[in-house]
Amino acid sequence: MKASKEIGVGLIGFGTVGAGVVEALAKNCGLLERRTGLKLELKKIADIDLERDRGVKVERSLLTSDAMSLIDDKAVDIVVELIGGTTIAKDFILHALAKKKPVVTANKALLAEHGAEIFAAAEENNTDIFFEASVGGGIPIVRSLTKGLVANNIGGIHGILNGTCNYILTRMTEDGTGFDEALDGAQKAGYAEADPSLDIDGYDTAHKAAILASLAYGFNVPMSDIQVEGIRGLACDDIRYAKDLGYRIKLLAVIKEDGGMIEVRVNPALIPSNHTLASVGGAYNAVLVNGDIVGETLYYGMGAGRYPTASAVVGDVADAAWALAFGSHERMLPIRWPGGNGRIRDAGMIESRYYLRMSLLDKPGILARICTVLGEKGISIASVLQQDTRAGEYVPVVIVTHKAIESRLASALSEIDEMDFVGSSTTRMIIEDFG
Ligand code: HSE
Repeated sequence: MKASKEIGVGLIGFGTVGAGVVEALAKNCGLLERRTGLKLELKKIADIDLERDRGVKVERSLLTSDAMSLIDDKAVDIVVELIGGTTIAKDFILHALAKKKPVVTANKALLAEHGAEIFAAAEENNTDIFFEASVGGGIPIVRSLTKGLVANNIGGIHGILNGTCNYILTRMTEDGTGFDEALDGAQKAGYAEADPSLDIDGYDTAHKAAILASLAYGFNVPMSDIQVEGIRGLACDDIRYAKDLGYRIKLLAVIKEDGGMIEVRVNPALIPSNHTLASVGGAYNAVLVNGDIVGETLYYGMGAGRYPTASAVVGDVADAAWALAFGSHERMLPIRWPGGNGRIRDAGMIESRYYLRMSLLDKPGILARICTVLGEKGISIASVLQQDTRAGEYVPVVIVTHKAIESRLASALSEIDEMDFVGSSTTRMIIEDFG
């Protein structure tokens, strides 16, 4: 048998996912060679910490603390960047691309914030950047959107894209666990970002939404155009009321096109308990994509963690190796489709049904005054739920609205929250109808 051509891999970042990549390459090297016809050889690993035990054995000679020398190393054909962050990781990636070496990255923050520059550098240097692991962990959603669904105009994407938040919401919903304890569990399991506020404040999901929206609509969707709300401080009460009303609360990325305008937002949302996405539990992610030819498609899998993310990274390494060995470039540059210059819908113009939890004095005439303010702004009430009665005291009152324009609701709530019979500011959440 002809010996397989060898392709050298250099790994920058020997953390949770990096160690998973080392393991996956070692465990499935035979399989990868049979499937690709290439020998994917790990040549170097760069990290600032060369001592910590990652639970995986590597030759000491592979380790270096100098990532730039790894990139320059002639034995390294493909550079894998897994350090995350938007500063030094960017320098490494740009340096690798300048050396005409294809890059594989899981760095959604970097692509969401500096994608335009990075994709331009790849194009200029006639090389590739692969980023399957940046969205949805082990789910091949980037390939699905750019290849499997290439024949489709994308009507909408609804995604549960953050394993940490989904884990937290699942624990809170199913076990009544408090927010902090649930976050602690997600961190211990290795799902959370180094800075977990990226997860719980919604920015990790927004980074992924920016990438998916750019891929779906062919223009650069900047982070500043995305409406972002996370799950920090979400009250157990809201989870309970949502359940009583027949909903589950999920942190959703919503990307949809309507009349030439693209809506991109991240927010906790009430979704019907019998909707497929409601049953996505723990650190699992799911993405529902609607295409005009295919209809609805669903992608599900582990969205975070060592092995699922490693699976996506090694898949990209295989693609990069193919492109190098057989000269076929993979560049799917989301920001340079001809004619790709969509317009983002203004956040205030978003229209949806809303869940409102108010704290109101329990006495006659109060609800009528709330209804008047909402009515004056053209907001119609679908139902009202008041479970506690404590005459003369503040009690929670939950109102479900018909479809309302966000800016009108915001203006009604700022008026309502100033009223002297309102105990604390109103909690509001979108009810997602998947339209
Ligand atoms: N912190 C992320 C999550 C990891 O929880 O989903 C994958 O991007």
